[in-house]
Amino acid sequence: MLRLRQAAPALLVTACLLALSACGQMEYPNSTFDHNSDFNTSIDALWDRLLFWGTLMFVLVEVMLVYTMFKYRKRPGGPPAKQIHGHALLEITWTAIPAVILALIAVPTVKTIFATQAPAPAGSLRIEVIGHQWWWEFRYPELGITTANELYLPVGRTAAFELKTVDVVHSFWIPQMGGKRDLITNKSNYMWFTPNADLGTRAFNGFCGEYCGLSHANMKFRMYTVSTEEFDSWAAHQARVAVIADSTPAVGYMFPKEQLPVHVIPQTPIPAGLTFDDNLLAQGDATRGATAFMIGGCIGCHAIGGVPGAVSTIGPSLTHVASRHTLAGGLFPNDGPHLARWIKNAKKMKPGALMNVIGTGEYDPILKRNVAQGGLSDQQIADVVAYLQALK
Ligand code: CUA
Repeated sequence: MLRLRQAAPALLVTACLLALSACGQMEYPNSTFDHNSDFNTSIDALWDRLLFWGTLMFVLVEVMLVYTMFKYRKRPGGPPAKQIHGHALLEITWTAIPAVILALIAVPTVKTIFATQAPAPAGSLRIEVIGHQWWWEFRYPELGITTANELYLPVGRTAAFELKTVDVVHSFWIPQMGGKRDLITNKSNYMWFTPNADLGTRAFNGFCGEYCGLSHANMKFRMYTVSTEEFDSWAAHQARVAVIADSTPAVGYMFPKEQLPVHVIPQTPIPAGLTFDDNLLAQGDATRGATAFMIGGCIGCHAIGGVPGAVSTIGPSLTHVASRHTLAGGLFPNDGPHLARWIKNAKKMKPGALMNVIGTGEYDPILKRNVAQGGLSDQQIADVVAYLQALK
């Protein structure tokens, strides 16, 4: 007993410090507890309610328990305890009370499940989410848009997602919007939420929440909430075919780079041993790059709207690739040096990447030899970069 008394102050201080450490002015950019959509607001409200009543019951029961222990404790010389057998009223009471408590938990829980699982309201923005090892395809079927790894949502309008996968099971998760739902092979799952109308122009992280192979951790995406006008401008441009930007100066809305918060900017280092002469990027030629895009076999996997023959859906659509901030499932920033190295040797840039090794002389672990025939030189890669960067 004495030992416990001596330790009590230290225990109390430790508990207080632990509690205080949760109160700092820290930022949690991927927290699920921020109320940014109707979805996570309803789930968090339910959780708060259950936590409050649960805590109240816990305190009540503990107080009664401690009171009883002290009041009826054994005292030296005291009378023997009264011996009883069975007490019908007490037994009914302690069965009935938990039953009522369970009902009080079940009713709001089931109501929330029904509300969040209901069909999406009419007038929702339909979006198909298609999981690939290891990137995200987003289609807006009503708007004729196919894009990758970056999702634009207008604030205040319900986004209704149809979740599918072309290979293994993935899971679509934007923690700040709540909800996480699996993409199941040969099946469509559905989920919808409405980003709060007052959210403004903001960027969020999205993740794959289900282990799906070697680069599961590198299967990320970005979500931008934008105003209706900004969304309409973005969507109208994305629905157009690709043109080398010089000939069409009119470009749609793109989430401003300078407004990107640090937690959505990829920080992945370039792997050691993958070299590229960055000076060549300044001499890249978009027209030559369009030809190299064919020679290098890029056309076998990537669609570019408006380019005859470039219709494959194996890899991400590159129609407006230059309007994206990230590459490779959110792993790298979409700039010249990263794009060039990605084209040169994607398998070195991202573990397990299914994209072919394109750079001449680079080792291809699938073919088990260095790329010779059909490979691209650094200059040709710089041309392809110039071409892709013109596809705004
Ligand atoms: Cu896709 Cu994990």
